[in-house]
Amino acid sequence: MLLKKRGFALSLGVGLLAVVCVAQAQTDIPTSQNMLYVKSLAASCAACHGTDGKAAEGSQIASLAGLDKNYLASQMKAFKAGTRPATVMHQISKGYSDIQIDTIASYFAALKK
Ligand code: HEC
Repeated sequence: MLLKKRGFALSLGVGLLAVVCVAQAQTDIPTSQNMLYVKSLAASCAACHGTDGKAAEGSQIASLAGLDKNYLASQMKAFKAGTRPATVMHQISKGYSDIQIDTIASYFAALKK
């Protein structure tokens, strides 16, 4: 009887853990656990937009740090959809899912200009 109760408690615990994990995976706010992943996504922008999204002085390419989250995400989605003309961003944006784009946008929005 006691064993059965434990088994139930255990499976309830595992079930709850699974729910928590799914909820966490869906959030676009970087947590310490997925920060490395977020940074690796954002790092692929550094080559052109500068380290930490700060474009080099005199650069023709926009800084991403401190950009409004919705603006950044909507521009990426417009590049992806081809509704905003681009030289390279239409190619680059196609490499990211909408969730990844939102994640990247949150990351840069949180950085100082
Ligand atoms: C190969 C260089 C290159 C890389 C890498 C790159 N970009 Fe760009 N980005 C550009 C250029 C050039 C433009 C101007 C539009 C165009 O011609 O494609 C631009 C424009 C943008 C804009 C529009 C800025 C504005 O002020 O409207 C956003 C947003 C943007 N990039 C986000 C990103 C993000 C996020 C990444 C990484 C996932 C990234 N870019 C990676 C070159 C790059």
